[in-house]
Amino acid sequence: MTEKTLVLIKPDAVERNLIGNILIEYERNGLKILDMKLIKASIEVAEKHYAEHKEKPFFSRLVSYLTRSPLVVLILEGENAISRVRSLNGTTDPGKSPDNTIRALYGLSLSENTVHASDSQESADRERAIWFG
Ligand code: TYD
Ligand code: MG
Repeated sequence: MTEKTLVLIKPDAVERNLIGNILIEYERNGLKILDMKLIKASIEVAEKHYAEHKEKPFFSRLVSYLTRSPLVVLILEGENAISRVRSLNGTTDPGKSPDNTIRALYGLSLSENTVHASDSQESADRERAIWFG
């Protein structure tokens, strides 16, 4: 099934000039870039994006991090793109992420883990509306 998913190349990656390295991972794996922009996220958008975590102790730190400097917003398309991009990204904690996943290669820490990708069709639709509405 052809799917579209929303990806963020987060501030820690843009700050370290890793945009190209990360895009190569997706393109090499046959994912098509349908849309892409470099922006500085507003607090409002960051809070909406991570709304499911608003009661968590790490929420305010997460929003500060996501809004501190520019990030890249991507729409990727491909066969089973939602689960495939999650696999390419790796697990939330870069230190535990499988070898050669983007988070294992480039992630700094649990809170600064370099990339985001939608975790379901519902999240992909919701997140596309937030970032490209
Ligand atoms: P989550 O949705 O659990 O992870 P994922 O990005 O893999 O879907 O959490 C969202 C982000 O919140 C995660 O990418 C990094 C941050 N985070 C923390 O800073 N501390 C934590 O304990 C957790 C679970 C997440
Ligand atoms: Mg998540």
